[in-house]
Amino acid sequence: MFSARLTIDPRFAIGSVERRLFGAFVEHLGRCVYNGLYEPGHELADEHGFRRDVVELVRELGVSTIRYPGGNFVSGFRWEDSVGPREERPRRLDLAWHSTETNEFGLHEFADWLELVGSEPMLAVNLGTRGTAEALDLLEYANIRGGTRLSDQRVANGRTEPFDIRIWCLGNEMDGPWQLGHRTADAYGTIASQTAKALRQLDPDLELVVCGSSGAQMPTFGEWERVVLGHTYDDVDYISCHAYYQVNDGDTGAFLASAVDMDRFISSVVATADHVGAVRGSSKRIAISFDEWNVWYQTRFEAEDKISGIDNWPVAPRLLEDRYSVLDAVVVGNLLISLLKHADRVRSASLAQLVNVIAPIMTEPGGPAWRQTTFFPFAATSRLARGEALDVRLESPDYPTSRYGDVPLVDAVATYDAASGTTAVFLVNRSLDDEAEVVADIRALGDVSVRDASSLYDEDLGAANTLEAPDRVGLRPTPSAEITDGLLRLVLPAVSWTAVKLG
Ligand code: AHR
Repeated sequence: MFSARLTIDPRFAIGSVERRLFGAFVEHLGRCVYNGLYEPGHELADEHGFRRDVVELVRELGVSTIRYPGGNFVSGFRWEDSVGPREERPRRLDLAWHSTETNEFGLHEFADWLELVGSEPMLAVNLGTRGTAEALDLLEYANIRGGTRLSDQRVANGRTEPFDIRIWCLGNEMDGPWQLGHRTADAYGTIASQTAKALRQLDPDLELVVCGSSGAQMPTFGEWERVVLGHTYDDVDYISCHAYYQVNDGDTGAFLASAVDMDRFISSVVATADHVGAVRGSSKRIAISFDEWNVWYQTRFEAEDKISGIDNWPVAPRLLEDRYSVLDAVVVGNLLISLLKHADRVRSASLAQLVNVIAPIMTEPGGPAWRQTTFFPFAATSRLARGEALDVRLESPDYPTSRYGDVPLVDAVATYDAASGTTAVFLVNRSLDDEAEVVADIRALGDVSVRDASSLYDEDLGAANTLEAPDRVGLRPTPSAEITDGLLRLVLPAVSWTAVKLG
């Protein structure tokens, strides 16, 4: 056993916890939409074909914003295909995922489904094969009440009230060579700025997200942000970050330190954005929309899932259906800690994705839906993190990693909600072998008690929830959490994630 210390004090505030930090992502990819959240023939489907069991799980997960409809998919998407009478909607090739898009589920269906799950839309426009004019058309269709061709078309398609979509992404991963319409930073910055100005001319209060890098490992990372923000600084509110992690070369210790990479990624983008602001003499601060993040076994996708063949364009194939282990869930819990630690600048984030595709929720066609291991830290953090994120002044021993050098064995953050007087503490123990004894000085919180404490860990780091064993893994109580003389003490098992609620 080793020891770590921290201090929880509402004066150490980082920034307010935006509900939008707990967003997710629904892409027309594999079985996320079709045979995922939408399965008309299923015994639990409602009159729209939406699976009620999935709706219940999405609510339980506590998802705030849902980014839609892609992802790589959006860069070849014609939004007009997805509205109007279903029988007239065209089937199209989806070049991003080598599939057929039936357009059976489109913008109206997405909006209806969002009302059921109680989440906010975040819509991405196609800046790959399309441009400013089509983005403007979509905005007119979505947000203008009526009296114009496109808004009247929306009304005729059954939706009297505008969708009133507030937050929009200006394309997706435009720095990636795999992206349809991939551009240089200069070319993308130019079209993003033009499009942002045009969208704002129509609806001045929109919140706009410009594409940052699709990962900190991209060769253009840093320079891409500098050039793109050079064009768009005054036009946008957010720049996006995307990051996916997996065990590389069997190095579990480095994988457990993935949040260190996320921390550094965020700090680098903040520094670059602030540099652009400083050069312009601007007092405006650009926020980060971390709108794709997760564990994703991308090497498995490349080796096993990739579809090819001129005559082979399946509908809703099984793609990116990673089965998440306890180890993966601890990393996901730690990535959430990282987002909270940067709550001053990360103001929106989306777990990628939501159902079946690298997802916390899985479904079987005609069968049940279940929670993956990663569901638990997300749901608990979304439920408990309220008010202000707090820096916890952590003191922890380090361990060496091949990728990130020496990193702390324990990571933690807290949130404090003055309105309800509750505090939440989120912790991970990254040690592969040893328990951590954590002592937190909570004297600044006054007379509080432990309301709830639960952890995710298992003897078997590979344990997962599956169709056959959907409840194998879940949160367990943390009986060691006790307060004496203003000190909260608890023991974190090796490779574990823990949440404690104090009030
Ligand atoms: O989430 C899967 C894919 O990852 C998205 O379509 C793309 O934006 C990213 O590369």
